[in-house]
Amino acid sequence: MTKEHFLGRTLEAFDPPVRGDAITGERYYAKSWARAEWRHVFSKVWHIGGMLADLEEPGDWITHNLMRDSVMMIRQEDGSVRAFFNACIHRGNRLLWSDMGSNERITCSYHGWQFGKDGTLLFAQDAEDFPGGNPCGKAHLTEIACATWGPFVWFNMDKDATPLHEWLAPLTEQLAGYQMETMTRVLDVRCEIPCNWKIIRDNFNESYHLPTLHPELASFIDDEYTDTSFEMYPSGHNRMVQKGCHPSKRLDYPDAMQPLIEDNLREWGLDPADFVDKATEARRAIQLAKRRLGPERGFRHFDTMTDSQLTDYYHYTLWPNTTITMSPDGFQILRSEPHPTDPEKCIFDHWYLMPPVDGRNEVVTPVGVVPFEHAEREVVIYGEATLGYVADQDMSVAVGQQQGLHSMGYRGGIISGQEKRIQRFHELLNDACGIHGALPADAD
Ligand code: FES
Ligand SMILES: [Fe+2]
Repeated sequence: MTKEHFLGRTLEAFDPPVRGDAITGERYYAKSWARAEWRHVFSKVWHIGGMLADLEEPGDWITHNLMRDSVMMIRQEDGSVRAFFNACIHRGNRLLWSDMGSNERITCSYHGWQFGKDGTLLFAQDAEDFPGGNPCGKAHLTEIACATWGPFVWFNMDKDATPLHEWLAPLTEQLAGYQMETMTRVLDVRCEIPCNWKIIRDNFNESYHLPTLHPELASFIDDEYTDTSFEMYPSGHNRMVQKGCHPSKRLDYPDAMQPLIEDNLREWGLDPADFVDKATEARRAIQLAKRRLGPERGFRHFDTMTDSQLTDYYHYTLWPNTTITMSPDGFQILRSEPHPTDPEKCIFDHWYLMPPVDGRNEVVTPVGVVPFEHAEREVVIYGEATLGYVADQDMSVAVGQQQGLHSMGYRGGIISGQEKRIQRFHELLNDACGIHGALPADAD
C-alpha cells in the first residue's frame, strides 16, 4: 500500500462529517422529489452529452434527452462545440429526434424555420409578418453552457454554471495520466430500469455489496473495506480505490494463488510458480512488469499512469449521477438518469472506453469480445439482454429494493461506515432540494 494512493479514511479533508439524516423511502417514488431534483440538481450540474468522436465535421450534431428536456450539441465552423436547447423558439416544437446527424441547417418540422449551426435563425416563412420585424439573423436558439473534457462533450443548463474544469476538480488532475481523451467507446448500452435513479447511485456509492452480489471479484480485487480508500470531495464527487491483481483480504487465506492472477502473471512474463502461497505479492510484481514491458507492447498510456493505476480500480462517482470506473485496461461510464415522467424508472447507460494499443483490433468488454471501434448505441429491454455481467448482478436487486422502499417497515436506513458515501449523497441531495425529513402524506 502506498500512501499516495491509499489515503484511507484518515485524511479529514476527504472525510467530511455527516448528520445521519434518514434516507426516506418516498424520495425513491414521490413525484415531488423528482420535480425538486430536476429544479435544483439536474438543471444545475454538468452532464456528459456524448462523444467528441461523433462530432468530427462542422454541422455534425448529437442530442441528449434529460427528463422532459433535450439538448443538441453542434460542431461549429471554427472547431468549437456549442449546445442549445432542442426546442424551436417559434412555438416550441422539438427540433431533432435522433441521437446524431449532420446538417448545414436545422429545420423545424412544424412551420419550417431554419437555424444555422450557431443557432441563428436563417429562414422564417413570411418573415415580414412579425410585429417586431423580420426575426431572421436576430433570433437564436437558446444556448447553454458547453465544454469538453476527455473524449466527451458536456453541457450545463445553468446560466451561472461553474466552469467545467473547476466543477470536475480534483478529477482532471487525478485522471490525467490515463489519457482518456485518446480512448474509443467500444460499448454503448442503454436500458430503462424499473427503479428510481438513486437506487443505482446508492449501489455505486458503496462496495459493501461486493462479497454478496459479486463474490467472484474477491479472487482478483481486494474488497476488504479497511484496505479500501474512500474519499469525498467538497464538490460532491467521490472516489473509492481498491487494489487489483490482489485477492481479497476477506478470504480465509488471501495468499492462495487465484486463476485470474495467474493469468495476469503469465501475460506479463512472470512465473506463477514464484508466487505460490504469495498471491498478495503478485500485484507489485505485475506493476513492475507492466512498467517495463508496457511501452514495447504498445501500451503507450502506461507511461503516464502511476504504478497503482497499472493494477488498481479507481471508482469515481460524479455528483450526482455519473460513475466513472477506471481500470488498468480502460474505463466504464455507468450513469442513471431520472425517467421523464415516472420516478420509479430510470435510464441507465453503460459505456466502456479503451485506449489504442498497437496491433489490437478486438477487445474484451463487460459484455464480451467486440471489435476495437466506435460502437453504435444498443438500446435493450430490461431482463432481455445483458448490460454487462457485473451490472446485471447490480440491477438484479434494484427492482426488489424499489418495492421494499415503499414498505411501512422501511424506516430510513441503517448505514455502515463503509457506506458513508451514500449517507453524504442523500444529505447533499436534501440540502440541494431543500427537503428535510418525510414529505406530508398527500405530497403527491
Ligand atoms: S414551431 Fe418551429 S417553426 Fe413553428
Ligand atoms: Fe456492484
